[in-house]
Amino acid sequence: MWKVDDDDFKKISSWGLESNPFRAIEDFSERKKELRWLNPEHRDHYVRIIHKRLKKMGKTKDEEVFDNYYKKAEVPIDRRRWEYLMARKSWFIMPLGWETIAKYGSSVIDLGCGDGDTIQRLINYVSEYWKMNCHNDRTLKIYGIDINASRIQNAKKLVRSSNAKISFDFRTADVAGEGLEFKDQYFDFAISTGVLEILDDESCDEFIREMCRITKKGIYIEDLLEKFPGGFPRENLNEWLERNGFIVINRYVVFSEPFDVDHLSDPQKLWPIMLDQNIWAERVDKERR
Ligand SMILES: C[S@@+](CC[C@H](N)C(=O)[O-])C[C@H]1O[C@@H](n2cnc3c(N)ncnc32)[C@H](O)[C@@H]1O
Repeated sequence: MWKVDDDDFKKISSWGLESNPFRAIEDFSERKKELRWLNPEHRDHYVRIIHKRLKKMGKTKDEEVFDNYYKKAEVPIDRRRWEYLMARKSWFIMPLGWETIAKYGSSVIDLGCGDGDTIQRLINYVSEYWKMNCHNDRTLKIYGIDINASRIQNAKKLVRSSNAKISFDFRTADVAGEGLEFKDQYFDFAISTGVLEILDDESCDEFIREMCRITKKGIYIEDLLEKFPGGFPRENLNEWLERNGFIVINRYVVFSEPFDVDHLSDPQKLWPIMLDQNIWAERVDKERR
């Protein structure tokens, strides 16, 4: 079990996300993408982590690996590690489109919410945005849905809202299964981070269809853009979204941590330097189609 100390938090805060939460966009370049393979620490770590992951998953077939690892595994987490992960992931999970959520939203759903750390960041973001812009008349209801009951338990234990006008609720459900209980366009916005990358094409199709069906205005997606054992990177998520009435407004490819030619920047070395995409999509008006 990995341990986090104060220095680890300090290192993450030196990444400068507090002053610019979109720093990862300017840090990325095609040249750096190639250069990372000349970084010996990164290369060693890449090999080590892939072996470790395959061993931990304990199966050889990709589908089974991901089913067991993500959807069924019991994964308890304490507050300190949860907070570290929240800070760490803020590099590649950016508040893209969140200003629109804060301005025009009264309900949001996080599909495949895991331990709820992205919801915690959304609560903090919206609360701060309302304060800065003197929006005193708003309320926001956030739902988190995940297929893994243990993740939902973590989220229920850890997520907090210090703003009485921002409430949240968590439930266990399969987004790619029979369909969720919500009526069409029930939520103003949807978010989904790190989920599509573990779904095969059939499940991804069902997931995106359901996400678009229940969402009225806009969708934020963060997704791994490279092959990891068992994963399904997708360059063409815009086509998947367009088939379901949404158009991509912004898309950014970023590294999973700040690029450094010699070292890994994450003090905990949780992952190799991977590529991620951040997408903000909006529903196309029927008249515009
Ligand atoms: C890599 S984790 C990401 C969790 C979280 N969104 C985050 O950013 O940390 C993928 C999550 O998707 C959930 N998941 C996978 N398939 C799902 C489905 N069909 N319906 C709901 N949740 C699903 C898994 O249980 C897991 O918690």
